[in-house]
Amino acid sequence: MKKILVVLIFLYLGLASCEAPEEYDDSTTAKAEEFVAQMTLDEKVHLVVGPGMSYPDWGISAKPTINLIKDVAGVAGYINGVERLDIPALKLADGPAGLRIDPTREDNPTDTYYATSFPIATMLASTWDLNLVKKVGVAIGKEVKEYGVDFWLAPGLNIQRNPFCGRNFEYYSEDPLVSGKMAASMVKGVQSQKVGATLKHFVANNSETNRLNLDTIVTERALREIYLRGFQIAVEEAQPWAVMTSYNKLNGTYTSQSKDLIANILRKEWGFEGVVMTDWFAGDNPIAQQIAGNDLIMPGDTTFNPEATLNSEKLLTAVSNGELDQAIIDRSAINVMKQVLISPTYNEYNYSDTPDLDRHAEISRSAATDGMVLLENDGVLPILTSKKIASFGVGQIYTIKGGKAGSGAVHSAHTVSIAQGLNSEYAIDQNLLSYYETYIEENSYEVPIFMGDPILTCDESLLDRTEIYPHALENDVAVITIARMSSEDSDRTNTQGDFWLTDNEKALIENVSTAFHNEGKKVAVILNIGGPIEIASWKDNVDAILLAWQPGQEAGYAVADVLSGKVNPSGKLSQTFPVLYEDNPSSSTFPGVEPDEEGNPTKIYYNDDIYVGYRYYSTFGIEPLYEFGYGLSYTEFTYSDVRIIGERHEWNHKKKDVSDIVELAVKITNIGNVPGKEVVQVYVSAPGGNLSKPELELKAFAKTKLLPPKSNAKCSGSQTLFFSLDAKTLASFDTANDQWIVEPGEYKIFVSSSSDVSNIKPIKLHIKNKVIVSNTTPDAVAPLEEIKAMITQ
Ligand code: BGC
Repeated sequence: MKKILVVLIFLYLGLASCEAPEEYDDSTTAKAEEFVAQMTLDEKVHLVVGPGMSYPDWGISAKPTINLIKDVAGVAGYINGVERLDIPALKLADGPAGLRIDPTREDNPTDTYYATSFPIATMLASTWDLNLVKKVGVAIGKEVKEYGVDFWLAPGLNIQRNPFCGRNFEYYSEDPLVSGKMAASMVKGVQSQKVGATLKHFVANNSETNRLNLDTIVTERALREIYLRGFQIAVEEAQPWAVMTSYNKLNGTYTSQSKDLIANILRKEWGFEGVVMTDWFAGDNPIAQQIAGNDLIMPGDTTFNPEATLNSEKLLTAVSNGELDQAIIDRSAINVMKQVLISPTYNEYNYSDTPDLDRHAEISRSAATDGMVLLENDGVLPILTSKKIASFGVGQIYTIKGGKAGSGAVHSAHTVSIAQGLNSEYAIDQNLLSYYETYIEENSYEVPIFMGDPILTCDESLLDRTEIYPHALENDVAVITIARMSSEDSDRTNTQGDFWLTDNEKALIENVSTAFHNEGKKVAVILNIGGPIEIASWKDNVDAILLAWQPGQEAGYAVADVLSGKVNPSGKLSQTFPVLYEDNPSSSTFPGVEPDEEGNPTKIYYNDDIYVGYRYYSTFGIEPLYEFGYGLSYTEFTYSDVRIIGERHEWNHKKKDVSDIVELAVKITNIGNVPGKEVVQVYVSAPGGNLSKPELELKAFAKTKLLPPKSNAKCSGSQTLFFSLDAKTLASFDTANDQWIVEPGEYKIFVSSSSDVSNIKPIKLHIKNKVIVSNTTPDAVAPLEEIKAMITQ
């Protein structure tokens, strides 16, 4: 009976996979082996080394892709085919917020190939809604498939260790459970369309400065509990078709050349069955990459030095002189072939080039509304649509939908700016709008961006009080938009215009607030950003702050949905917002030390160890500005009947680990006046044992359905949520014994609306004996005393 209950709970929460992940049965493997047995060494080597990438501006061209049946402009790379055996080349395209391909093609000027720009990954994580993320994944998978692409080069799930990593917006969270669960849902969604997803960047790639050469120095415990954990969850739950190793070194070895990481941890320990590929131009030795288990070298044969030997030639020579066992190339070729066999191109899928962009725009909009986080609200929000709004800030026109640069970009047919969105819902002050339009036209300038055409930007306009006053008289409320973007290949900085507001932005907030407050009117700020900025010094000047993140192509509509109360915000932070950058535990080690001749850091020491994000703030008593898991609503919820409904402790023979040990329930009731959804989080405070433990660790989460308000007598405004904590989830990593263990003692469980659990009475759970959950590869990746000594310096 209990088993049935547990299954129902899982299905109910949508935590278990609804569809079987794409798996290779024995016949696929056998067929792959047969194919590879028929290949010449040259054919095999070209299967595991891509054709390269062209850089016309620098006079560098890729080798022709072998057996490319029909190209798709703008893909990031190809897997070569084998002409003699009728094996077609496959196409691989980025990236985390949608499909990145060229929207127009020279050979076909009449058609367009726009893709849907979805909210950035951090915003998807802020929904805390695994079903919704899966739905986004399904939509992306359809676009990948209908545009003739085989592999999507995402999701990215590196940990947001430091708020200034330039790529944080492409990643989900500072917490491994949130990252892993989000990535698993995304992979399930994408792969339900029978195209491949690629988990990236494996692993400990948490900054961009000198990304091709940086050596990340980290303890094995931090790696296991923080940086590898999300990948483990996503691999075990969703079996992605591919994993992309990262650019950086890990404790001295490039990740793409680390046997411990790829062969031992990823494949042996976690059972990964797909293909492992390098990041583009990563590492320095294709032979070492092959030996380590990195099957596919990407983009392949391009070299920036005309004198350098091509990767494929290096492998061929290594096999012929005995340096590389041919069996290793065979193994990689089989891993690649297994994917080729299940790919749409190999199976001659007749793609349409017409995915349902209208439907996907709706999904993008609803994901955006559900990911917005209400940070402050003294009652000004929601704003009735009958009110007149004065909308300030250049960001209302230059709205950032998501990454514009690098592989995180998506070429959508449009971006609905915040001004357009507000205009569709409200009577917004047209004189003010025209002022901004003219100002932007006259003051914009181009800035270069990584891997893309320069973009237009504009400094904030310095409106003084006399210019603002008439608008305060004529309108009911002010809305100010502040926008930021960041990108791959560089990190953010602790400067004005990035973490800090510029002088003009500060003056705008001050002047608008004074003018409107003098008239007894309120001011709301919309943050159109990809990561934390400084808020503490100005937040008391304004009446509401809505964190709209970078919400994808429907940005303006989604903002208007939330401002007007059509949608009650239910997003919560998946990343801590500190008061000051220096409060972050990694600020003293970021972006690294020991500069090379060009002044770029060559090493980064993860001195914060397992104390990343809220694990640090809660353990060391540092008050963040907005804690992890925080977010307001237009309604209120009560938590009641928090209880343990079952305890089990058993060995699961099939999974070869210890199974569920505790099942919890909590009743959530909407006691406010409008419908709303609540994100519920389960934190555990482990007893001090032999291993030091963070004060809090997130162990489970779920979101309610839309609960009607108390005034709605017809249907109940309550929902009981269930959680299941297994030993694997509770375990810590014991480096001395290479084991995941649950130490005995009293565990406190907090069922909470955020990581601030100060007012919550915990449920206590006593664990009598130590539980060994699993054994791991002895001394993998970072056992060296030397590393430990370096880190604790
Ligand atoms: C990025 C990857 C991306 C690849 C292909 C690299 O520079 O780090 O995330 O998938 O390029 O565009």
